[in-house]
Amino acid sequence: MNLTTRYMGMSLRNPVIVSSSGITQSVEGIERCAEAGAGAVVLKSVFEEEIQARTRGAVESSLFPTSFPEGQDYVERYSHERAFSHHLELVRKAKQAVPIPVISSVHCVSSGGWTDYASRLQDVGADGLELNVFVLPTDFRRDSRSYEDVYFRIVEAVRRNVSIPIALKIGSYFSGLARTAVELSRSVDALVLFNRFYRLDIDVEELRVVPAEPFSDPGESVIPMRWISILSGRVECDLAANTGIHDGTGVVKQLLAGATAVQLCSALYRQRAIEYLSTILDDVSAWMARHGFRSVDEFRGKLAQENSDDPAAHERVQFVLQTADRSLT
Ligand SMILES: Cc1cc2nc3c(=O)[nH]c(=O)nc-3n(C[C@H](O)[C@H](O)[C@H](O)COP(=O)(O)O)c2cc1C
Repeated sequence: MNLTTRYMGMSLRNPVIVSSSGITQSVEGIERCAEAGAGAVVLKSVFEEEIQARTRGAVESSLFPTSFPEGQDYVERYSHERAFSHHLELVRKAKQAVPIPVISSVHCVSSGGWTDYASRLQDVGADGLELNVFVLPTDFRRDSRSYEDVYFRIVEAVRRNVSIPIALKIGSYFSGLARTAVELSRSVDALVLFNRFYRLDIDVEELRVVPAEPFSDPGESVIPMRWISILSGRVECDLAANTGIHDGTGVVKQLLAGATAVQLCSALYRQRAIEYLSTILDDVSAWMARHGFRSVDEFRGKLAQENSDDPAAHERVQFVLQTADRSLT
């Protein structure tokens, strides 16, 4: 079976990418992903807030007086280098260790000073850069446009500093998701739909707020699948599906919907085996054989909205006739 895929301008041996997570925070984990057959890996994100906090601390505790801005600039640059150093080292070592594309990842909330530093990631060999951007829209005074602007400003600032391909990983909290995705797609090489964020839960016995389950369930994959199917062919960049993809069938569904590639990690955590990737890939190949497809390109986007006889089905949101309701009576 020919599973090769072009994603962000890179050639992947297959469309299954291990997403940014603890699995990809060490060279050993990255090597295991490559051995198990991953098409590419996205490294664990380096966090902008962490970089900014360290830089602020260094500037505040530096001996340079505020009247000496060159000195402060020096401290700032030096602490950026240090805050980034672990990640830079990971990129460098991963590139030496595995033959598959290594995509660096930065979690960012602003287009502030760190973006000047993005070029260091490409200097050490990152094949691409994924920007994991999210600002929870909780400010009652801000309108949706001002939240959306954050994404555009970050992409613009990073673009100025790097020439490697850029992916933007977003959540689904947009009031005008279709239009925003199309506009963003003009400036990035891929959109990753959707990130699954840290979630809150409530412990009703202890009466306190607690972290929710960190890993996704397969049922969650219908949300990215719907949006991939709607956006496929309408955006000007690649689309990577993410969240809730746990098996070969899950991968096939996203590809049929129009995804260029898929990203996953919970499946590997839940199976407690990075090697489970090879089962996923075998299942994709077996499905292709059963359906007479020899390459991913032959079926990608077959069930996207733009190719559908019933486009309204992709936008249906209300239950009309409830078989479930009937079963109760
Ligand atoms: C333990 C853990 C750590 C994660 N760390 C990051 C991260 O640093 N950066 C990021 O963009 N996503 C991170 N994610 C999110 C995953 O990359 C992915 O978007 C999400 O888990 C949905 O995919 P899944 O359903 O296959 O788990 C993390 C997820 C988990 C479970």
